[in-house]
Amino acid sequence: TEIDIAAEDLDLGGYPHYMAKEIQEQPESVERIIRGRLDDRFGVARLDGLNLTPRELRGFSRVKILGCGSAYYAGQVGATMIEELARIPADAEAASEFRYRNPIIEADTLYIAVSQSGETIDTAFAVEEIKRKGGRVVGLVNVVGSTIARACDGGVYLHAGPEIAVASTKALTNMAIGFALIALALGRVRDLSNADGQRIIDALRAMPGQIKSILDEGPRIAEHAKEFATANSLFFVGRVRGYPVAREGAQKFKEISYRHAEAYQTSELKHGPLALIDAALPTVAIVPADELTDRNLAAVQQIKARGGAVLAVTHEDVDFGELDVPRIVVPKTEPELDPILLTIPLQLLAYHAALSLGYDIDKPRNLAKSVTVE
Ligand code: G6P
Repeated sequence: TEIDIAAEDLDLGGYPHYMAKEIQEQPESVERIIRGRLDDRFGVARLDGLNLTPRELRGFSRVKILGCGSAYYAGQVGATMIEELARIPADAEAASEFRYRNPIIEADTLYIAVSQSGETIDTAFAVEEIKRKGGRVVGLVNVVGSTIARACDGGVYLHAGPEIAVASTKALTNMAIGFALIALALGRVRDLSNADGQRIIDALRAMPGQIKSILDEGPRIAEHAKEFATANSLFFVGRVRGYPVAREGAQKFKEISYRHAEAYQTSELKHGPLALIDAALPTVAIVPADELTDRNLAAVQQIKARGGAVLAVTHEDVDFGELDVPRIVVPKTEPELDPILLTIPLQLLAYHAALSLGYDIDKPRNLAKSVTVE
């Protein structure tokens, strides 16, 4: 496939890698996806490209999200947001599996295909399968005019700008924000109040500044990364909103650091993986200030009791008490949007780990930016 990238986009602009550049661009790329789409009068997102009337939006009783790799994890973040804000059952599935399992396509389900490149063959074929069976599918895509964007019945462009590094960062953040916009659109034709819609809108507006403050923590995160890069294997754990964050954190680590990194639901640790914990297996734990903080802290305590090192990605308000745990603190946003900010330090963690190991950050072995062949 031909990808249209202007020469100035290929300029590293003084950064050592595209991944570093793309991580740092996030405050501006987030501005771009929300620009012109936030409606303060009605606490809703204006998404004309979806090509769905309020009545049609109101008619869906389920949402199914399809994507591959990091886009699939962004889809999991999105499914939770849609369930929380619009109260419609929503889930995400790997498009690569969906297309091979004769999926049941329902007329009252809104299908959402999510892809940075818009060219991933598994996702494109999932879209074809949905259309063949008469389903309604919209795209959350970065590359304008790409195969998936054209095949969908409508969509929301991510406006992240060209992404060159194989490991997705700014596009992924905009995918999660795109889902927040779709959740607002679906929520405001249902029971989400104007005030609650406005609460999300205000939080989205504050996000570029908050991301900037996380990026300023880069040097501290780099120190942690160097330590973690020496482990042969590590865990990333989170629960509910935090679980897709952990999955994405582990994925990034695997992709560019070539370290075995496994994501688990914190709640499932005691049902098996806790047996593996010892001094040689460190854990990155997602511990947001929310209704599950105490449960997450109890799990951190159990890991520590077995000699496992823990690095917590957390909020200022979380009280670790006696627990001696190094922390990366991210700014608090609205709870439904927490996963977006919790993911940013994990990009930096993987980046700096790979950097300290001396690997080819922008073009990891065995991987392609977009998988367009079977
Ligand atoms: C490839 C890349 C992943 C990416 C996935 C989906 O497997 O290695 O990093 O997340 O494709 O790409 P897309 O362009 O559809 O978002």
